[in-house]
Amino acid sequence: MPNQCLVCSTPIEPFHSFGRMPIANGFLLPEQFASEYFFELKVAHCPACGMVQLTEHVDREKMFHENYAFYSSTSKRMAEHFEQLAEDVRTRHLGGKDPFVVEIGSNDGITLQHFAGAGIRHLGIEPSANVAEVARGKGVQTVCRFFDEALAREIVSEHGQADAFLGANVMCHIPYLHSVAAGIRLLLKPTGVLIYEDPYLGDIVEKTSYDQIYDEHAFYFSVASVSHLFGAHGMEVVDVAPQHVHGGSMRYVIAHKGARPVSQAVERQRAKEHSLGLHQPATYKHLSRNIERSRDELMKLLRELKHQGKRVVGYGATSKSTTVTNYCGITPDLVEFISDTTPIKQGKFSPGVHIPVKPYAEFASRYPDYALLFAWNHGEEIMAKEGAFVAAGGKWISYVPKVAVL
Ligand code: SAH
Ligand code: TYD
Ligand code: ZN
Repeated sequence: MPNQCLVCSTPIEPFHSFGRMPIANGFLLPEQFASEYFFELKVAHCPACGMVQLTEHVDREKMFHENYAFYSSTSKRMAEHFEQLAEDVRTRHLGGKDPFVVEIGSNDGITLQHFAGAGIRHLGIEPSANVAEVARGKGVQTVCRFFDEALAREIVSEHGQADAFLGANVMCHIPYLHSVAAGIRLLLKPTGVLIYEDPYLGDIVEKTSYDQIYDEHAFYFSVASVSHLFGAHGMEVVDVAPQHVHGGSMRYVIAHKGARPVSQAVERQRAKEHSLGLHQPATYKHLSRNIERSRDELMKLLRELKHQGKRVVGYGATSKSTTVTNYCGITPDLVEFISDTTPIKQGKFSPGVHIPVKPYAEFASRYPDYALLFAWNHGEEIMAKEGAFVAAGGKWISYVPKVAVL
């Protein structure tokens, strides 16, 4: 039985399997190795609505819980990005009296803190209790639940409808998108706006950034597939804006159908998607080959460096790195440890291949010969502050868009 598209029920076409994968953010202790959970990470394209999606889904409670490892505020650049977004929403979309802003996946309050600080009525929906608690500590009203249509009804009856509904790097995490879209439709005022952003399929195809593919990312959106999804719920995409963050994201602005003028940027981006071939199966066959090539080149480089006796350390224990290390087979004999500034990850081991994760001080106090830039999406921010590593003769290894020593 072929898998069906989670959006339009058409049989989907798998184009790449990464094999057995653990939970991407499941950093763990040695006593947990024996019971580690694995699934098959496989990605498919829907020939009807264009939605690229996983074929197998990990239970949400296995990924989002009271020990969730991703804290949004670890990147200064991202903090600035979301401060800008908050400013944009405030000045352009909150005209009326006593406006109300809802955000899903509000995490540690990186965005909503700016509304809280300005005394604007807001509500964060964040199922991971540890990060939700950090947000509350910043004065951000937070409900520790998973968003869906049922919760949307509860919010409307308790708080009324929203002027703005936000979501960054969360919409793509939710397999039951129809329930989410139906909930947003209920929750948005007639003049309200949904603004969300996620890693963009066009960038993944263009840069072979296959590490965006992991359990949490159930979907890889394009303007075409998003238009189709929200079109089925009486809404439409009224604006889109490419974002540099996370290696190439797309911001979608969506409103009730007919409520707002549609920017020309929407059609322009759809035309770009067409010329990139995002609607064609051949594009995904090609992507699959590029992914294999990237793996082979990275492994060749790492084995050569090992042979030369060089020390290689990973920089940033990203969830994305779980796909790279497990798919390529990068073990602790090739990468000594991964440096990360997030306390909850430190002292643990990376999912699947069990590379030790150590505090940043371990990197800074004894520079390796090479740093494998797992957090390549924060490359500018990181390289700007690591001048001393390079001055000491250290070199960066990246694998997006190509495997290269920088
Ligand atoms: N918006 C933040 C966090 C992204 S990580 C940022 O861009 O940095 C994704 C977050 O979505 C996690 O904190 C996770 O707990 C949350 N999440 C996952 N499923 C959700 C759902 N159904 N409803 C609301 N939040 C969800
Ligand atoms: P990120 O790429 O934002 O997310 P994902 O897990 O979704 O792939 O993760 C960045 C990780 O890198 C995070 O664990 C924090 C860490 N990090 C550092 O250790 N140093 C840094 O300077 C930055 C920017 C991030
Ligand atoms: Zn479909």
